[in-house]
Amino acid sequence: MTDTPEKIVHVPLGARAYDVHVGPGLLARSGALIAPLLRRPRVAVVTDETVGALHLDALRGGLDAQGITMTALALPPGEATKCWAQLERTTEWLLDQQIERGDIVIAFGGGVIGDLVGFAAAILRRGVRFVQIPTSLLAQVDSSVGGKTGINSPRGKNLIGAFHQPSLVLADTDVLQTLKKRDFLAGYGEVVKYGLLGDAAFFDWLEAHAPGMAGGDLSARIHAVAHSVGMKSAIVVRDETEQGDRALLNLGHTFCHALEAATGYSGRLLHGEGVAIGCALAFELSARLGLCAQETPSRVRAHLKNMKMKVDLSDIEGELPDAETLLALMGQDKKVQDGQLRFILARGIGEAFITSDVPRAAVLGVLQDALALR
Ligand code: GLY
Repeated sequence: MTDTPEKIVHVPLGARAYDVHVGPGLLARSGALIAPLLRRPRVAVVTDETVGALHLDALRGGLDAQGITMTALALPPGEATKCWAQLERTTEWLLDQQIERGDIVIAFGGGVIGDLVGFAAAILRRGVRFVQIPTSLLAQVDSSVGGKTGINSPRGKNLIGAFHQPSLVLADTDVLQTLKKRDFLAGYGEVVKYGLLGDAAFFDWLEAHAPGMAGGDLSARIHAVAHSVGMKSAIVVRDETEQGDRALLNLGHTFCHALEAATGYSGRLLHGEGVAIGCALAFELSARLGLCAQETPSRVRAHLKNMKMKVDLSDIEGELPDAETLLALMGQDKKVQDGQLRFILARGIGEAFITSDVPRAAVLGVLQDALALR
């Protein structure tokens, strides 16, 4: 169709290259877009019960239009699904469906489904191809692209997994309309991260257009998702397995992971909310270390507040541990190297960099002051 405002972002990873389609009506066109990948007209879809109830019929219709039959498994929604038991259930189900090496598995849901199903595809018969159809804003702009797949361990999030790139990503922006406002805004935490880490002009654009985007402006949504995916693609192509630059995508995440652990990975704090608070704290730390202008953290916070997002520790309901405990939780982050915390700090909006050279006292000071405002 030429009259849709769809955008296509190519992820040029050589033999593992793929396209990310961003736009409306992609579920209806899924059959036409997936058919060229298929050796036989049948796919296995793994979703969650919430997404399945809302959107599985639309996906089935899109596949059926090209004569592709679909078999589906719906897992319970929520982070707890990213576990060994559901991975086993998924892989055994895919074997029961007689999914072969040449077949395609579809991950149809948010970040939990994308990560779990991508990992199941990575290990099934030593690797089958999979298509990501992300249904949350967070999954559309971040987790569905770049090939990080995996599950959680009782010892921490995402500790078991594999890099396994999808063969195609279909980010249908119509599906975002069924997201709860809180989930949409949490996903926006990952969008704003891209402006903050590497593109000041995009941050300017978000300051002007993100309120409209949250209100439902379709072309703003398509632009924001496609631009975020384009930025992620450029970073992933430079550093697919996170030996260096890819860690920039973790701006705000060191603080976020400590806050998520402190709140028990519960509904008190969604991941994207923690990213937004973490970005505000990372800019505060950067300013205190004299790396960026003193007024820059205020600009970041003003935008997040304008978007009605969580930005302060006082926006998190319930008790939080003290600063020393939060710092200790940061030390359990995956990004710790040789016992040293790695931070993503910034010399300004759009100018993030990776460093291990952060005085413990400065981090503690930022946390103590943030907690004192509660
Ligand atoms: N979500 C961070 C990454 O994909 O590297």
